[in-house]
Amino acid sequence: MGDPHPKLHATDLTRGFGRPPHVVDALGPLELTVAPGEFVCVVGPSGCGKSTLLRIAAGLLRPSTGQLRIRTSSPRPAAMIFQDYGIYDWKSVRANVRFGLDVQRVPRREANARADAWLDRLGLADFADAYPAALSGGMRQRVAIARGLAVEPELLLMDEPFAALDAQLRTILQDELLALTQSLRTTTLFITHSLEEAIVLGDRVLVMSARPGRIIAEHHPPFPRPRTGEVRTDPEFTALKSELWDLLRKEAAPA
Ligand SMILES: Nc1ncnc2c1ncn2[C@@H]1O[C@H](COP(=O)(O)OP(=O)(O)O)[C@@H](O)[C@H]1O
Ligand SMILES: [Mg+2]
Repeated sequence: MGDPHPKLHATDLTRGFGRPPHVVDALGPLELTVAPGEFVCVVGPSGCGKSTLLRIAAGLLRPSTGQLRIRTSSPRPAAMIFQDYGIYDWKSVRANVRFGLDVQRVPRREANARADAWLDRLGLADFADAYPAALSGGMRQRVAIARGLAVEPELLLMDEPFAALDAQLRTILQDELLALTQSLRTTTLFITHSLEEAIVLGDRVLVMSARPGRIIAEHHPPFPRPRTGEVRTDPEFTALKSELWDLLRKEAAPA
């Protein structure tokens, strides 16, 4: 990338777990640059280090070697991550969604309005005053998604956020995320198991090898911005999907 100020920049990044002589090499070496406004999707076989990469980017985990730098310029949060549900059982659904806005000291009236708008979009309007214990797993995941998107972060880090949802809701949320990130120019690093999801959403789709995950291919879905979910019916969509699937199948196959 020619941008001198990428939002995210990783060089020689590796991460191992455990102590010698029992170190498990989980990730890398890996180089990654994400330009401002870019939407980068990462796909790879299970256990290849995708979550490890995202945890490093979120500052939750240190690399073993190399470094990962994040540069943001606004008072908006640098990152939100949806890995597990991570929602608070003692807060109402609305208060959970409002959480990041409260941290930012957004006035309560505005914060409630923004939280309610996101709950509405995610089909949870009737549950604003409920507590998470009353929700299904898919609904809890939607609360976590609403909370992350409500702060309109400058850099969005997402780890398979839609994986637990049914196909219909998944499609709706992909389209919502497309519209949101395109209108706000949100820089996004998005990890997914789903090739379709990666192709619909990504400016770039990076394919990782089996563990320790390295980037073995990079594709640019050829659909101009602003893009909508209609690209799913484009013949080029199907072609790219099968090309990526061939790559992944090789990585997932036992050696
Ligand atoms: N905290 C940890 N301690 C030990 N091993 C770990 C830890 N986190 C991840 N790993 C190992 O690192 C590898 C990559 O894990 P992960 O990043 O979760 O993969 P992915 O998200 O691609 O499925 C796996 O072999 C996993 O077992
Ligand atoms: Mg993972």
